Amino acid sequence: MLRFLDEEYLAFLKAEFPETISTQGRVHLGADHLPNKRFDTVVQGRASYDEGLRAGITSPYGHLREYVASRTLGASPDPHVEIIADGLVERVRALKAEEGGLDIYLCGGSRIAGELFDEIDELVIKSYPIVYGMGMPMFTTGLDIKEFTLDGVRTFANGVVVRTYTRKR
Ligand SMILES: NC(=O)c1ccc[n+]([C@@H]2O[C@H](COP(=O)([O-])OP(=O)(O)OC[C@H]3O[C@@H](n4cnc5c(N)ncnc54)[C@H](OP(=O)(O)O)[C@@H]3O)[C@@H](O)[C@H]2O)c1
Repeated sequence: MLRFLDEEYLAFLKAEFPETISTQGRVHLGADHLPNKRFDTVVQGRASYDEGLRAGITSPYGHLREYVASRTLGASPDPHVEIIADGLVERVRALKAEEGGLDIYLCGGSRIAGELFDEIDELVIKSYPIVYGMGMPMFTTGLDIKEFTLDGVRTFANGVVVRTYTRKR
């Protein structure tokens, strides 16, 4: 969604979620000096991680602790990236239970988000004024219905809307 990274929206991302911009993107956008604000750890599914790997990027979030869930990757392509092959949910629970530090950024995709659905405490949904004729669900999971509470809505002149929800426990 690079075309929506105008001055207003980029300023918001830099101020609120600077660490969710990839390492390469941060350099390009002049954000690589910004300290992590919300997250110090990122978890990705292998298919999401593959997007960067195909471009030769082995550590897409070098400013965070990086974990990639995969039963097929085997050895990590990068010393900064740890592969989680077994016990994904338990491992994420252990990371969440660590004292101090910041939160965990679950950076997609749909299948790992489905597997970790019960561990998700907050949703930050960025919507763009575009309709695609196809796509994937936000969570590949069963039909379990869970409630979230709307915490905030930010709208931008370019049509982007960012909604934040917390899990009702
Ligand atoms: N719109 C957004 O904000 C956003 C954000 C991120 C990604 N995406 C998109 O999402 C797409 C990928 O999503 P996806 O649902 O196809 O795949 P995904 O969730 O990124 O990755 C699925 C893979 O993760 C591994 N995995 C899942 N559960 C696991 C478990 N319990 N233990 C160990 N490994 C596990 C498996 O890898 P192995 O097959 O290697 O075992 C599985 O094939 C990409 O096209 C990406 O662009 C969109």
